[in-house]
Amino acid sequence: MSDTAPTLVHRFEPATDTARPPLLLLHGTGGDEDDLIPLGRRVAPGAALLSPRGAVLENGMPRFFRRLSEGVFDEEDLRRRTDDLAAFIRDAQARHGIAAPVALGFSNGANIAAALLLRHPGLLRGAALLRAMVPFQETPPARLDGTKVLLLSGTTDPIVPAANSARLAAILQGAGATVKHHELPLGHGLSQMDVALATDWMAGF
Ligand code: MLT
Repeated sequence: MSDTAPTLVHRFEPATDTARPPLLLLHGTGGDEDDLIPLGRRVAPGAALLSPRGAVLENGMPRFFRRLSEGVFDEEDLRRRTDDLAAFIRDAQARHGIAAPVALGFSNGANIAAALLLRHPGLLRGAALLRAMVPFQETPPARLDGTKVLLLSGTTDPIVPAANSARLAAILQGAGATVKHHELPLGHGLSQMDVALATDWMAGF
């Protein structure tokens, strides 16, 4: 571990199929490093899995950054936690000898994955964002040419308005990312549709 990288509680599982890029698993509010391991194994069998736990606690529930209220982010904290997570990823890459990961994030984890894309372009090879929102009021000027993004949103999601996920898709596309956006007839929770679409998309790496 380098002197500067923040320590995050995490799980790491080495690859059994080294042709697959590693997956960075980012859980939702109240989750932990174990939560998305089964989903990661399912959508990218054999990939290395790097799964950190968010370091912020909201009423005892782990998150990746603070919020002021539902859907209103503490952007100063978001910037700091995004940079901490970027340093953690770089350190983990060096320690485990793994390539740039593809993120698989749900809800709060998808939001910090979107922030990682915009603040640290090139760090992630791609990102599957499940129920993500626009992370910053003012978008940092990122170039994301060559980065693939899968955005899965729910048309009846009570937390993420449809216009917000459409704006996120437009922001990422405008930055040069190759974005696939599916608006599913679902709420905030995940379904087999998410699993099937994420599995298909992951096979494209
Ligand atoms: C967030 O705070 O990141 C979003 O509102 C999603 C959530 O965690 O509920």
